[in-house]
Amino acid sequence: MANLIPVAHQVDCQPGQLLRVKMQDKRLLLANVDGTYYLVQEMCSHEEVSLYLGCLHGDTLKCSLHGSRFDLKTGAALDAPATIALQTYSVVVADGQVFISL
Ligand code: FES
Repeated sequence: MANLIPVAHQVDCQPGQLLRVKMQDKRLLLANVDGTYYLVQEMCSHEEVSLYLGCLHGDTLKCSLHGSRFDLKTGAALDAPATIALQTYSVVVADGQVFISL
């Protein structure tokens, strides 16, 4: 059975928004795409830049520094210069909370 750990209240990450989340030693980024939540590593896989400074385009996240886009579902890097996928995490939404599923 999955271990669910709360990471955020739903109201704190509205559609079209990003929310930085800390869990243990991990820096994560929660994205709300039209009511669907995605959880990925906060830092870009290309250089040490927070993707919180980037912007959402549909279910992709664009890095503010060099413009690489990442697929929020898979973490895949869709454009150069980034080539390494982001770590993605499963989430479950219940009772107004978003949980990471470990
Ligand atoms: S730091 Fe994100 S694409 Fe270069």
